[in-house]
Amino acid sequence: MENDSVGSMKTVGLAPNLSSGFYGQDIISVLQFSRDNLTYIFGVADEMRAIVRRVGASDLLKGHVLACVFYEPSTRTSSSFIAAMSRLGGTVIPINEVRYSSVTKGESLPDTIRTLESYADVIVLRHPDVGASEVAAEYARKPIINAGDGVGEHPTQALLDLYTIRAELGQIDGLHVAMVGDLRYGRTVHSLARLLCLYDVRMTFISPEILRLPLDVMNEVKAKGKEVRETYDVHDAIADVDVLYVTRVQRERFADQAQYEAVKDYYVITPELLEGAKKKMVIMHPLPRVNEISYAIDDDSRAAYFRQMENGMYIRMALLAAVLGKA
Ligand code: NCD
Repeated sequence: MENDSVGSMKTVGLAPNLSSGFYGQDIISVLQFSRDNLTYIFGVADEMRAIVRRVGASDLLKGHVLACVFYEPSTRTSSSFIAAMSRLGGTVIPINEVRYSSVTKGESLPDTIRTLESYADVIVLRHPDVGASEVAAEYARKPIINAGDGVGEHPTQALLDLYTIRAELGQIDGLHVAMVGDLRYGRTVHSLARLLCLYDVRMTFISPEILRLPLDVMNEVKAKGKEVRETYDVHDAIADVDVLYVTRVQRERFADQAQYEAVKDYYVITPELLEGAKKKMVIMHPLPRVNEISYAIDDDSRAAYFRQMENGMYIRMALLAAVLGKA
């Protein structure tokens, strides 16, 4: 046989999908996404939901390994990534307690990342320092997914938040979204506010003075021409909102605990407050909740926070598949 193909590339099995824009990418900040990226990932997440509902699992990521490294506490983000990888037939190195890893012996973040990428194909990282995942991504040859970098960003949460808004209300354009609580330290708010700028929305930021949205995020949102309002009174906005995005006051971020005590119960969303809200609207929360949403609201059909956290698994299945070139 004539052998004139030596050196040319051959495709064996399924080639990675290079056209999604996600293959081999780090997921560091929502600023990297376009509207088309979101439409794409939401479509894949819909497929993942259908797979889970129909058959529970698939072997799309069989043979792939995820390292899940959490330097801060987590229930939903870590377990939904682990479940996502497991349901796609992959496996996970879970380091949920860095205290028991060599971090305790003084190992640096770059060295920890270099170690894990020699075993895994993709790394999910939560870290207390703003910018930590960007640093990790600089050193890593494998994709890094930011699962929260201190008071910075939480891009995968914002994706699942938008996916939930779309699933609950059928659209994102034209909505009035109010974010309430700890807008200063809440990284989910920073990511969500930025991501919403891709859509035609109005935003209201509701917080006490000391927990206002950071100026850099506010300026970015304004620079995108969005109509924004700030208030400290949730009654001001409740009648007109389509999405009420409630957040926990982030105790662990306060240097002064007396200041935390002063604002920790500033807002409590109660059935009485919701009487003044639209019939078709949603209440969301990244969770965990402390006291800011009354348990009496959990059975209200507008309370979407438990559906929201389930959506996290579908979005993370979609992201893992896309980053690994299988979606
Ligand atoms: C959030 C976080 O870690 O930023 N939780 C989450 O990932 N769902 C919100 C919080 O901790 O309050």
